[in-house]
Amino acid sequence: MGVLVTLPPNPRMELVLSRETISRRIQELGQEISQAVGDDELVIIGILKGAFIFMADLVRALNVPAKLDFVRLKSYGSLTESSGQVSITKDVEPDIELRGRKVLVVEDIVDTGLTLAFLRNHLEQHQPHSVQICAMIDKLERRKRYVELDYVGFEVARGYLVGYGLDSAEKYRCLPDIYELKV
Ligand code: PRP
Repeated sequence: MGVLVTLPPNPRMELVLSRETISRRIQELGQEISQAVGDDELVIIGILKGAFIFMADLVRALNVPAKLDFVRLKSYGSLTESSGQVSITKDVEPDIELRGRKVLVVEDIVDTGLTLAFLRNHLEQHQPHSVQICAMIDKLERRKRYVELDYVGFEVARGYLVGYGLDSAEKYRCLPDIYELKV
């Protein structure tokens, strides 16, 4: 029987989180969130595009009734630094009621925190019961704006990460594992 070896898809990439490690952590997060939520129906909002794969796996690890939606946010600035000016290019759909509801925001990576700080403020204007945040990766050392993260998959200090939804100029999102892209 052969041994399955996961090679980096190019030599400038170093494996940071394998698909098995990601999958195990998502099962833990799913149990933790399900227990905390109880029988209440959640409104789960994913942030496009990066969170789409994490969201797909997370919702299947949850054991709670939920409605799903997505938002898309744009932050203005250079390729590597957000300017702090964030705008919404796709909002929550009008038929998704937020008032009085428990909302769970699903994000792939938290960097400066500006995107989530903006979105939390935006969602709270709809007077939900609560807004909680589940982020797959927390890059705490890059934080410019405090944002409370209720559930975190992994804290990662190093590097520019790609794969499992994370991109570099729209490449690498489809990789099943997460890599550091060496420059
Ligand atoms: C990335 C990531 C987060 C945001 C985090 O999105 O998916 O949404 O940046 O950065 P911040 O904490 O500094 O605000 P990006 O704008 O690259 O779009 P994408 O999800 O479509 O890749």
